[in-house]
Amino acid sequence: MSERLEDIAAAIVADGKGLLAADESSGTIKKRFDVIGVESTADSRRDYREMMFRTREAMTRYISGVILYDETIRQKAADGTPLVDIIKAAGAIPGIKVDAGAKPLAGFPGDTVTEGLDGLRERLTDYYKLGARFAKWRAVIDIDQAKGVPSANSIGSNAHALARYAALCQEAGIVPIVEPEVLMDGAHDIDTCYDISKATLIKLYDELHAARVVLEGTILKPNMVLAGRKSGKVSSPEEVAEKTIRLFHQTVPAAVPGIAFLSGGQEDEEATANLNAINAIGPHPWKLTFSYGRALQAAPQKAWSGKASNVPAGQAAFTHRAHMNHLAALGKWKASLEQAA
Ligand code: 13P
Repeated sequence: MSERLEDIAAAIVADGKGLLAADESSGTIKKRFDVIGVESTADSRRDYREMMFRTREAMTRYISGVILYDETIRQKAADGTPLVDIIKAAGAIPGIKVDAGAKPLAGFPGDTVTEGLDGLRERLTDYYKLGARFAKWRAVIDIDQAKGVPSANSIGSNAHALARYAALCQEAGIVPIVEPEVLMDGAHDIDTCYDISKATLIKLYDELHAARVVLEGTILKPNMVLAGRKSGKVSSPEEVAEKTIRLFHQTVPAAVPGIAFLSGGQEDEEATANLNAINAIGPHPWKLTFSYGRALQAAPQKAWSGKASNVPAGQAAFTHRAHMNHLAALGKWKASLEQAA
């Protein structure tokens, strides 16, 4: 494959393909494994991820790339094959999470800023040698309006860090996935999500321009415009699609080749239905696809539940969700296809 940033970015958002976000930190994957009663060890994490990466249909037809965690990019399958080689053999691109997580922002209770810039140039060089051709950095913007969260300082600090990260990635020949996640955990309504997401994206593209990031060699990984979960409201896919696309028309340059959504805590089918509605109202200047963690993995995790004898069931569950999201990325998904499975 060509190594130009623009070509890697185009491959990530190739028609009907999206990313598998399998970059849970050791703490996060332990929480997921706790739910299915599996002890989180280096071997159980490897076995689980190997199961997905060896799912032939999903990996060759629906998944363009996998976001890995530092442990996984260095891990070998049970038979000694590096996991990265299994991903590449399926025609998918290995990627790597490089941020060090969201930390409390000094002076701004309730706000966070994502850390990890120190030493990043050297780590990116190392990850390139290990096979990574794209990276991810997640900024977290919570909404709690009564407490003045998010502050302008939080939005600005996170945008600045994302831009410094993106510039370092491009210097290393790695496509930056730029992820400013406005959380759906709050009690806010959908229009508040729109307003905060708009302020976040305006600041983000200001900073990316200021840092001389080549937008053609980037991918945006945003939230959809949704009501906060604690509001008790679930917006229709049509409303989510209309507001999400209006937001991007206001804020995301057409030079950006693709937008790959996070699922953010949406139910599996909700994340698929919303992506489908977004693509059903095209054409759009960017490809719009998935970079789901939970919405791709909840079903296979449950089906697998840590037993080698359940690997075929886990792979079938993964293939089904990847297939449904493939159709949604093309605007061709229907709810009846879920029941059929
Ligand atoms: P979710 O789809 O579970 O939100 O995870 C995507 C991701 O990579 C968050 O950083």
